[in-house]
Amino acid sequence: MSLDALTTLRAEAEANLRAVDDLDSLTEWERSVFGPKGSLTLFLRSLGAAPAEERPALGRAANEVKNALTVEFETRKTALERVALASRLTEDAVDMTLPGRAPVVGVDHPISQTIRELSDIFSLLGFQTVFGPEVETGRYNFDLLNIPSDHPARDVWDTMIVDTPNSEIVLRTHTSPMQARVMEQTQPPVRVVVPGRTYRFEQQDASHEWAFHQLEGLAVDQHITMTDLKGTLREMARQLFGADRRIRFRCDFFPFVEPGVDFSIDCMICNGSGCRVCKQTGWLEMGGAGMVHPSVLEGVGYDSEKYTGFAFGLGIERIIIQRYGVNDIRAFAGNDLRFLKQFATVNV
Ligand code: PHE
Repeated sequence: MSLDALTTLRAEAEANLRAVDDLDSLTEWERSVFGPKGSLTLFLRSLGAAPAEERPALGRAANEVKNALTVEFETRKTALERVALASRLTEDAVDMTLPGRAPVVGVDHPISQTIRELSDIFSLLGFQTVFGPEVETGRYNFDLLNIPSDHPARDVWDTMIVDTPNSEIVLRTHTSPMQARVMEQTQPPVRVVVPGRTYRFEQQDASHEWAFHQLEGLAVDQHITMTDLKGTLREMARQLFGADRRIRFRCDFFPFVEPGVDFSIDCMICNGSGCRVCKQTGWLEMGGAGMVHPSVLEGVGYDSEKYTGFAFGLGIERIIIQRYGVNDIRAFAGNDLRFLKQFATVNV
């Protein structure tokens, strides 16, 4: 119990305080000095046992040490708290330079994209885009297209029949029924394209689907000739596939055109050498076409002596297959995003 002991106590306490480097060890230090069994507490408590004449001086000195250590403790505490706060702010900081999360944006199905593109091409050529019903009557799907019910040609379109109340109700097998629907409601000149879904009762394979899309074209006016048909289809192919694709016309039979052709472009997948998609022919049939049959014109009340026209129907999936090298038409209906994302024009 002496001033020397007090000096030593202070020196030790201060040395220990300098070694403290976080708030936990500071609490520990506080306990070791000011706690119930702390060095200073024990010293103060022992003052009662000191000789009476030394007591006042020792008491004063001990109080000074207590005050000094308290101030040093508070100073250290403030400093350590500031350090702790600073490091927490750094850890919790939001990095404003991180790239944001891109929102999911839907995009058009490749078929919709292609329909829009075809529609644009044909609109520049003066054609209006119109739409028709997918559930049709036999009258529009067949009769008005010069395919009477007892005609064997009717079997060519493997028809899905919905109902037969008085006459047939079918899923349209082609977009051609819109030829008659449009002509019934307008007078020449007529220039329309009709994109849409069509249905056939058909075995699926790499190039056949039971539901697919067509784009019908119809132009009726005075003096329309086969040359206009050729020019129109070539211009379409030129816009879609570029100038170097080859186009082929062959004679074909459809009851609603005369003469009739089918038109093909050379297969982009194999460059004409033959593959699974073009069935080893080197050519991919794009569709049928021809000059509108006089019976069809007469059937809708047009004067077939005065007016002539051309019509064509092309397969939309086939265009995409050619363009992007899709090797299986069944991918379109699959709605598999891994397939569809390839056609996204924005990142998805
Ligand atoms: N509608 C025919 C088909 O689907 C194609 C076609 C359209 C042929 C117009 C000639 C004229 O097979």
